[in-house]
Amino acid sequence: METSIQQLQQEIDGYEIRNPKELEAFKLEFTVRKGKIAGLFSQLKTVDPADRPRMGQLLNSLKLSAEARVADAEARFAEDTAGAAPALDLSLPGRRSFLGSEHPVQKVLGDMKRIFTAMGFGIATGPELELDEYNFDRLNFPPNHPARDMQDTFFITRGQPEGDVLLRTHTSPVQVRVMLDQKPPIRVICPGKVYRNEAISARSYCVFHQLEGLYIDKNVSFADLKATIYSFARQMFGSDVKLRFRPSFFPFTEPSAEVDVTCYLCGGKGCRVCKKSGWLEIMGCGMVHPNVMKHCGIDPEEWTGYAFGMGVDRTALLRYKIDDIRLFFENDVRMLSQFMA
Ligand code: PHE
Repeated sequence: METSIQQLQQEIDGYEIRNPKELEAFKLEFTVRKGKIAGLFSQLKTVDPADRPRMGQLLNSLKLSAEARVADAEARFAEDTAGAAPALDLSLPGRRSFLGSEHPVQKVLGDMKRIFTAMGFGIATGPELELDEYNFDRLNFPPNHPARDMQDTFFITRGQPEGDVLLRTHTSPVQVRVMLDQKPPIRVICPGKVYRNEAISARSYCVFHQLEGLYIDKNVSFADLKATIYSFARQMFGSDVKLRFRPSFFPFTEPSAEVDVTCYLCGGKGCRVCKKSGWLEIMGCGMVHPNVMKHCGIDPEEWTGYAFGMGVDRTALLRYKIDDIRLFFENDVRMLSQFMA
């Protein structure tokens, strides 16, 4: 036994470990569970009991010296790899950071806001969760007006002491809040999300964006309204667009009109988008109804004003030639990343 131990010691001492491969071979030969050292350990029980403690000691020191060689080699190779291939490669090109992009609806909204603020309009915002009082009552909607119907309005709670709570169906309640808050002259635009319980399709969605405007001052006339809308439309859709004001009805304006602009896709010649008519409807507008003024604490004998309201999403659809409004609300990065500046 003792000679076997001495032989193995010589073998271990003489073994060259110059690289990780040789280290692996060394371990396989000597230190693994079925290696030569373990083999000698298993023969220990055949040794004369009197010699056994001494043989055990010799074997232990043999095992320790093999393990020391393994540890030494591992340390050497770790240093080598650190020198040969640094973990930090300063020559690698930098990782590109992901650039966000502005949502197409926000781009259009941004253009609209810029045009109106340059004309002197301030920007007002308000809650999307509204009271019936602001969304309908003070805007001169008769109690049984169809727009209040469950089919159009998302009611949240009904019959509360403060009145019905609903998702606003237009941004006009913001104008009500501004009138109740400020003394004329008032000149604001109200951009924001609005909600309607409509059948969802490629052309209409249950949520969309509006931008409405309100101007109240002394002697404001329909001519002022037309001039403002003309100036806006030329900046927004092109300097050669023409406008058409068609008589219309809204509970909160009198007289009221709907505004068409010559189709900026075909130049008014007639195409699929304008349904061969050459015109696209862009907004509703009119002179603020005296009842609305009264409901909002403004004397209609002293002040007059105009209001207008337009959808934002449709303009974004047309400008970017997108054929489904639902894409605006899905937040799919594959779609949004196509609108990098
Ligand atoms: N609030 C109206 C709507 O949502 C738009 C509008 C605003 C029309 C102001 C006229 C004047 O349909």
